[in-house]
Amino acid sequence: MRVNTSGSPLDMVGGAVLVESMAGLFLVARTAANAFTAVEAVCTHEGCTITGTAGDIYVCPCHGSRYARDGRVVTGPARSSLRQYATSFAAGVVTITL
Ligand code: FES
Repeated sequence: MRVNTSGSPLDMVGGAVLVESMAGLFLVARTAANAFTAVEAVCTHEGCTITGTAGDIYVCPCHGSRYARDGRVVTGPARSSLRQYATSFAAGVVTITL
Protein backbone atom coordinates (compact mmCIF):
# COMPACT_ATOMS: atom_id res chain seq x y z
CA MET A 1 0.00 0.00 0.00
CA ARG A 2 1.25 3.48 -0.82
CA VAL A 3 0.48 6.77 0.92
CA ASN A 4 1.42 10.13 -0.53
CA THR A 5 2.66 12.52 2.18
CA SER A 6 2.22 15.67 0.12
CA GLY A 7 -0.47 17.98 1.46
CA SER A 8 -1.30 15.66 4.37
CA PRO A 9 -0.35 15.77 8.07
CA LEU A 10 2.44 13.35 7.10
CA ASP A 11 4.27 16.31 5.57
CA MET A 12 5.47 17.14 9.08
CA VAL A 13 7.26 15.07 11.72
CA GLY A 14 4.68 14.10 14.34
CA GLY A 15 1.79 14.01 11.87
CA ALA A 16 -0.48 11.00 11.60
CA VAL A 17 -3.36 9.94 9.40
CA LEU A 18 -5.99 7.23 9.32
CA VAL A 19 -5.83 5.48 5.96
CA GLU A 20 -8.69 3.41 4.61
CA SER A 21 -7.88 0.91 1.91
CA MET A 22 -9.16 -2.31 0.46
CA ALA A 23 -6.82 -4.07 2.90
CA GLY A 24 -8.33 -2.38 5.96
CA LEU A 25 -7.77 0.61 8.20
CA PHE A 26 -4.29 1.77 9.14
CA LEU A 27 -2.73 4.53 11.19
CA VAL A 28 0.36 5.96 9.53
CA ALA A 29 2.62 8.41 11.36
CA ARG A 30 5.80 10.31 10.59
CA THR A 31 8.21 9.82 13.49
CA ALA A 32 11.28 11.48 11.93
CA ALA A 33 12.26 13.10 8.64
CA ASN A 34 12.59 9.72 6.94
CA ALA A 35 10.90 7.40 9.41
CA PHE A 36 7.27 6.31 9.49
CA THR A 37 5.19 3.80 11.41
CA ALA A 38 2.13 1.96 10.19
CA VAL A 39 -0.19 -0.01 12.46
CA GLU A 40 -3.58 -1.59 12.05
CA ALA A 41 -6.22 0.86 13.32
CA VAL A 42 -8.30 -1.85 15.01
CA CYS A 43 -8.20 -1.79 18.80
CA THR A 44 -7.08 -5.10 20.27
CA HIS A 45 -9.56 -4.68 23.14
CA GLU A 46 -12.94 -5.02 21.40
CA GLY A 47 -12.23 -4.07 17.83
CA CYS A 48 -13.19 -0.39 17.61
CA THR A 49 -11.51 1.74 14.97
CA ILE A 50 -8.91 3.96 16.58
CA THR A 51 -9.64 7.45 15.40
CA GLY A 52 -8.23 9.65 18.15
CA THR A 53 -4.82 11.06 18.92
CA ALA A 54 -3.37 12.85 21.93
CA GLY A 55 0.04 14.22 21.07
CA ASP A 56 1.94 11.25 19.73
CA ILE A 57 -0.41 8.70 21.31
CA TYR A 58 -3.30 6.96 19.55
CA VAL A 59 -6.50 6.81 21.61
CA CYS A 60 -9.34 4.36 21.13
CA PRO A 61 -12.70 6.19 21.35
CA CYS A 62 -14.54 3.22 22.87
CA HIS A 63 -12.87 2.58 26.23
CA GLY A 64 -9.82 4.80 26.11
CA SER A 65 -6.96 2.39 25.38
CA ARG A 66 -3.83 4.29 24.40
CA TYR A 67 -1.13 3.11 22.06
CA ALA A 68 2.28 4.41 21.04
CA ARG A 69 3.05 5.10 17.39
CA ASP A 70 4.62 1.65 17.09
CA GLY A 71 1.41 0.01 18.31
CA ARG A 72 2.62 -0.74 21.83
CA VAL A 73 -0.06 -0.48 24.56
CA VAL A 74 0.52 2.56 26.78
CA THR A 75 -2.71 2.28 28.79
CA GLY A 76 -5.36 -0.45 28.78
CA PRO A 77 -7.90 -1.95 28.88
CA ALA A 78 -6.24 -3.31 25.71
CA ARG A 79 -3.44 -5.72 26.50
CA SER A 80 -2.03 -6.57 23.08
CA SER A 81 -0.12 -4.30 20.72
CA LEU A 82 -1.58 -3.14 17.44
CA ARG A 83 -0.18 -5.05 14.51
CA GLN A 84 2.72 -3.14 13.00
CA TYR A 85 3.79 -3.16 9.36
CA ALA A 86 7.12 -2.36 7.77
CA THR A 87 7.41 0.96 5.94
CA SER A 88 9.81 2.55 3.50
CA PHE A 89 9.89 6.10 2.21
CA ALA A 90 11.04 7.57 -1.09
CA ALA A 91 10.06 10.56 -3.23
CA GLY A 92 7.25 11.66 -0.91
CA VAL A 93 5.56 8.28 -0.85
CA VAL A 94 5.36 5.90 2.11
CA THR A 95 5.18 2.27 1.08
CA ILE A 96 3.61 -0.04 3.65
CA THR A 97 4.33 -3.72 3.34
CA LEU A 98 1.15 -5.58 4.24
S1 FES B 1 -12.34 -1.33 21.99
FE1 FES B 1 -10.66 0.04 22.20
S2 FES B 1 -10.53 0.35 24.31
FE2 FES B 1 -12.16 -1.04 24.13
